[in-house]
Amino acid sequence: MDQYHVIGNPVAHSKSPQIHARFAELTGQQLRYDRLLVELDRFKPTVAELMARGVKGCNVTVPFKLEAFELADEASARAQLALAANTLKFEGGRILADNTDGLGLVHDIEVNAGQPLQGLDVLLLGGGGATAGALGPLLLAGPRRIVLANRTQAKAEAIAERHRRHPSLQAALQGTELKVLPLNAQLPASDVVINATSSSLSGAGVLIAPAALKSGALVYDMMYGPAAEPFLQWAVQHGARRRDGLGMLVEQAAEAFFIWRGVRPPAQVLLDEMRQP
Ligand code: ATR
Repeated sequence: MDQYHVIGNPVAHSKSPQIHARFAELTGQQLRYDRLLVELDRFKPTVAELMARGVKGCNVTVPFKLEAFELADEASARAQLALAANTLKFEGGRILADNTDGLGLVHDIEVNAGQPLQGLDVLLLGGGGATAGALGPLLLAGPRRIVLANRTQAKAEAIAERHRRHPSLQAALQGTELKVLPLNAQLPASDVVINATSSSLSGAGVLIAPAALKSGALVYDMMYGPAAEPFLQWAVQHGARRRDGLGMLVEQAAEAFFIWRGVRPPAQVLLDEMRQP
């Protein structure tokens, strides 16, 4: 049976085995998918061992996403823009890298939350890996403007500059204004506000003022569970619609499943199941 893994350190918390097992069931695909805890200095030899054993691919999580990108023989435009890979496919002795996080985010917003991004003003908070993975697919969705706001402005500026230069985005950038502002600036009122920072993990308060929300804005936190609550509850108190990152998690997995299997699993079915109390 075809074998896949999620590789990380730590990896025990990963929901990916459960998600892919259910996708396999729902699509009638025969596969095995298991967690693999890898020592911090063992990523490269571990991938070589997996390939030698005939494993078909893996998901990659913290802290190996950059290493996965660098190890690849071929990387999608999305992975090049993110400088990170969360999905590797092993084919004919070669490593193909992709990054499905941003696609998962956009799919969850546009399809599952029913909020097309075309023509909207988007505010993306953060300047780390999560922001880098999201920006390319967000630009391709055709919003009117994307403002990147990060505590360390230079990091957001570097991400924006990489995207401005990338050949795959030249057409998209004709129609979308891409701006970088410091997090403590007066941020423009936006239709969609996405939190891609890890600030809630350190218990930091809400990072922005209510003036950044247009009436009825969609406020999205890439986290889910208790970590997302302070920001999302604040958003609802200010008249916004809320959405946590569970849908992004399921959709990025669905994209990976499609890359490996050529079959698109019914992600919405699983998402509904996972949201059952
Ligand atoms: P990830 O891969 O999840 O994006 P990361 O690369 O460590 O993780 O990025 C974390 C992001 O959260 C960064 O944008 C960080 O801001 P800096 O670039 O200024 O470090 C942001 N972040 C974390 N804690 C924060 C806080 N208390 N206030 C504002 N931003 C914070």
